[in-house]
Amino acid sequence: MQRTLNKSFFWEKKLFVQRSQDLAIADLDPLNMDEFFKLLPEYNQQGDVDKLVSGLYKYIPYPDKLAKFSYEESIAAMRDIGILLGSIKKHGLEPVEQVPELDYILDVLSEKTDLPPRDTLLHYSVWNPAGDRMRTYTHYTDERGLIDSVKMSMEPVVKGIHYLIELHHTDIDSKEFALICHMADACFKKMVEAIVHARRNVDTTVFSKVLRFYYDPIQLYGRDYLGPGAVEMPVFIYDHLLWGSDCGDEEYDIFQNTYLPYILPQLRDVYYNYKGQESLASKVMSKLISKEVSVNVKESAEALRNMFMTLSSFRMPHKHMAEEAYQKQDDRSTGSGGYSTGILGAIIQLMSRKRQELEATMRLSGFLNNKNSAKRKMTGS
Ligand code: HEM
Repeated sequence: MQRTLNKSFFWEKKLFVQRSQDLAIADLDPLNMDEFFKLLPEYNQQGDVDKLVSGLYKYIPYPDKLAKFSYEESIAAMRDIGILLGSIKKHGLEPVEQVPELDYILDVLSEKTDLPPRDTLLHYSVWNPAGDRMRTYTHYTDERGLIDSVKMSMEPVVKGIHYLIELHHTDIDSKEFALICHMADACFKKMVEAIVHARRNVDTTVFSKVLRFYYDPIQLYGRDYLGPGAVEMPVFIYDHLLWGSDCGDEEYDIFQNTYLPYILPQLRDVYYNYKGQESLASKVMSKLISKEVSVNVKESAEALRNMFMTLSSFRMPHKHMAEEAYQKQDDRSTGSGGYSTGILGAIIQLMSRKRQELEATMRLSGFLNNKNSAKRKMTGS
């Protein structure tokens, strides 16, 4: 276990630094807009686009001030301008057509932060202050509930991703492998909690009739840039390492590539480093069909299978919630990423197929009996 502790030490330290930086960004108000954000929900409710446009003109930085912004200030500035982009778009107008100066400002902020030329889910959640200073489009507590559910699960998912990277460098025939699986799994359980939190605090009618429209794409430099929907969480990187990197599904590939630009650059690198490589599930399956299978390998396979169960415990209720919300929508059947809820079923299918392959291989090695799989079928995953 000592080896794991040493290996983890470096990335845990990095995540700790990242967390301090996230909190520092949330504290910043580089455009002096704290007071304005207390009024924004009212302006949005009234559909007062003039107030939104004049607000932008009042607060957007001059080029010399913009040039001097640090990385952290640039992110906080993008967060605050971003809330106004989504607000203007909600009222049916393209923000850059209303305020052409944004063209230059968004480009500079994007360049300084290596992120898209608009706000992302990260701006709206982990870089959004808590409490009174929280930037929201609306008065609805449901919006805060949605933001909080992402805030509580984003860091654990990133931590889980680091454990999975470690697993790619850990001997499957070792006690360590199953232990690291358990640690990754414990992190991902926060996603399950996040959905429970959203279920309790976000009314799907409020989502579908009000909130949803603030996350629409905006037009910039001749293309669409997506709004800050929870679909931008790096869950697809977690999947990629566990089962997706070698799944070879074209639709899933397009889905992942749609959201890659919206996650942190270091996580984008993880995607490219593992693309086309054997996933952890495939590696464990290869080990299971080798001549002599040890108790360690059996425990590794069982631990990996548990991780699939946790993924399902997030995906099944999430799909249910998404479908409920979109049924209530009269004129729109797609999410912030432009996908319909059908993509959620497609991902569940791909993930389940890989899990079933793993289970079949475990059964072949005599490690899993049919009773276990039947029980899983009854839970619907
Ligand atoms: C009322 C609440 C919600 C609705 C209606 C909803 C709807 C959707 C839809 C339609 C998609 C498909 C992609 C797209 O947006 O175009 C999606 C994907 C996704 N959503 Fe949500 N969502 C909700 C809440 C949440 C919450 C609270 C989280 C996490 C904290 C979350 C995480 C995700 C993730 C990770 C995906 C990618 C697909 C996957 O990995 O299975 N969503 N959501």
